[in-house]
Amino acid sequence: MIGLGTWKSKPGEVKNAVLWAIEEGYRHIDCAAIYQNEGEVGEALAEAFAKGLVTREELFVTSKLWNNAHKKADVLPAIEQSLNDLQLDYVDLYLIHWPIAFKAGVGFPDKREDFYTYEEVPLSETWKGMQDLKIKGLAKHIGVSNFNQEKLKMIMEVGGQGPEMLQVELQPYLPQKDLVNFCRENGILITAYSPLGSPDSRGDRHKNDPILLTDPIVNEIATKHNASPGQILIAWSIARDIAVIPKSVNRKRIKENLAAKKIKLKDQDLMELNDIGISHRFVDGSFFTGENSPYQRSDLFDN
Ligand SMILES: NC(=O)c1ccc[n+]([C@@H]2O[C@H](COP(=O)([O-])OP(=O)(O)OC[C@H]3O[C@@H](n4cnc5c(N)ncnc54)[C@H](OP(=O)(O)O)[C@@H]3O)[C@@H](O)[C@H]2O)c1
Repeated sequence: MIGLGTWKSKPGEVKNAVLWAIEEGYRHIDCAAIYQNEGEVGEALAEAFAKGLVTREELFVTSKLWNNAHKKADVLPAIEQSLNDLQLDYVDLYLIHWPIAFKAGVGFPDKREDFYTYEEVPLSETWKGMQDLKIKGLAKHIGVSNFNQEKLKMIMEVGGQGPEMLQVELQPYLPQKDLVNFCRENGILITAYSPLGSPDSRGDRHKNDPILLTDPIVNEIATKHNASPGQILIAWSIARDIAVIPKSVNRKRIKENLAAKKIKLKDQDLMELNDIGISHRFVDGSFFTGENSPYQRSDLFDN
């Protein structure tokens, strides 16, 4: 239920972070090709297995298909690269990272020609590529990330294996109740990303964003439980029965975040968090939408 996030975990930092996490008892590591650190995560995993800290079967490793490999023929080479970097024979979960397609070789787009449209590369085509990975045993489970209800329905209509997991931003400023209910009704498990409000992704564009970790209600509940604000935010997802993947490269915080599993939020705490009074999405997808893109915000989010 509590995994280690690795986005923005720099080379030179992420190997130790993964090893510390495993030593502290984490059994779930969230990775992605675009984080450009899967090679170093792989070194940590190999060391953990060699030292006998954990077995492969005990670990749950996720990776994600980047937006430049959505054509069906590109899906297999993409997972093969991640598996090679992670030094694994399979991942436990492979996700389509975003419902947005770039041309091959484009890491981040800067002009309209860098994108494929849905007409050129339909999501159904990408999903068929994902289904093949499960059949081949390269991914034990398959799912999607940053998909709204409409896009989830589209994937479910492909037929065959449907999405087993949805990974989206979920924190008290963005509880996404309708999307969560939709997943529950359709047997799709959920993982909450940016559970702490992603304070290390605040670029200039985000300098006026609210700061979730200093929210007075979160802090008041933390004091009551003799816990940290981060632990309360992690416990909030656990209380909703949603897996949660806080990122840290700091051993003390890695340990602290896993210890959040012991915190049992009371109904009153949950009511106060439900009533927090601020709505905010920290990862707003604006780098993929706008005038230089064929995609709209409505392609990503329900409202
Ligand atoms: N699928 C997607 O599109 C997507 C998008 C965003 C994120 N994710 C996944 O979700 C993971 C988590 O999201 P995120 O990285 O955006 O942000 P996050 O986990 O909400 O926040 C990470 C930040 O919080 C700090 N931190 C960690 N534990 C803390 C604690 N107990 N108290 C105070 N500060 C703490 C970290 O610093 P230190 O490292 O210095 O501790 C880091 O600056 C990612 O790493 C990634 O694996 C997926």
